[in-house]
Amino acid sequence: MIRVENLVYKYDPNDTPVLRSVNLEIRDGEYVALIGPNGCGKTTLIKHFNTLLSPTEGDVWIDGLNTKDPSAVGEIRQRVGMIFQNPDNQIVGMTVEEDVSFGPGNLNLPPREIRQRVDEALEAVGLTGYAGRSPHTLSGGQKQLLAIAGILAMMPKHIALDEPTSSLDPAGRRSVAAVLRKLNKQGMTIIHITHNVEEIVRADRVIVMDAGSILLDGKPEQVFSKVERLKALGMGVPQVTELMWRLQQMGEKVRTDILTVDDACDEIAALLRRIRKAASISPGRQARG
Ligand SMILES: Nc1ncnc2c1ncn2[C@@H]1O[C@H](COP(=O)(O)OP(=O)(O)OP(=O)(O)O)[C@@H](O)[C@H]1O
Ligand SMILES: [Mg+2]
Repeated sequence: MIRVENLVYKYDPNDTPVLRSVNLEIRDGEYVALIGPNGCGKTTLIKHFNTLLSPTEGDVWIDGLNTKDPSAVGEIRQRVGMIFQNPDNQIVGMTVEEDVSFGPGNLNLPPREIRQRVDEALEAVGLTGYAGRSPHTLSGGQKQLLAIAGILAMMPKHIALDEPTSSLDPAGRRSVAAVLRKLNKQGMTIIHITHNVEEIVRADRVIVMDAGSILLDGKPEQVFSKVERLKALGMGVPQVTELMWRLQQMGEKVRTDILTVDDACDEIAALLRRIRKAASISPGRQARG
């Protein structure tokens, strides 16, 4: 479990804090989308999860290990893998295979185990056939999958990803999303910073940050039903959620915790039935139906 207690963080001691007493628990195996406007502190928060940053005040615990404890740093970095936006900056090997073996190669493991970890990691992301290739010949999506394989070879329990698909084309985005979902099904905790509405909708839980604090935290349908608050932050909501919200603004009694076209169709069909029924009693309403 990842536990954040009263976390305050300042890049500069004289500045106002970038994180303002954040409290948060992420349970093992959760798929969390972390969203919020530019500069609200998302990256700063997840950098605390693998000791890239250390709290100015408060604590971050990874599976009971305190990130401020110097003797726990190695263990924590192994438990929490980090993936960043630009896959090119994460490539360290001359070949795909060498790249993935870099992390486990630093763990003093027997060569046979390193070999096995590399093979399994490449298999998990679907890059088995690319082992001997130069990473620079891969597509953006494949490079990001390679970066994920490098993390998997460390056998982490949790992976935090900072906008991993923002530089990818739709095909690359889909392949990364599919791998993340598969890893999550196998029990890995995923913390995924993204601005992509489709990726957010698929999470178990959505955490919305604003100005260094957590503003909303809940299931995607709960969070997205707060259309006005999200719009005020300049954030998008799924088109169908927005449609239901506009109907509600027009005075119709519809749910706004709707994320899929199918659910929206059901809700609109029910609305039309109600309108027709009302029209049959009072013909004045027929025009709107
Ligand atoms: N290395 C740094 N030194 C000083 N200030 C920083 C540094 N990194 C980030 N900040 C500031 O901290 C605040 C939070 O930044 P952070 O990168 O965590 O936001 P974010 O939510 O990840 O934004 P984005 O969506 O743009 O990636 C911003 O005001 C930013 O300017
Ligand atoms: Mg960021």
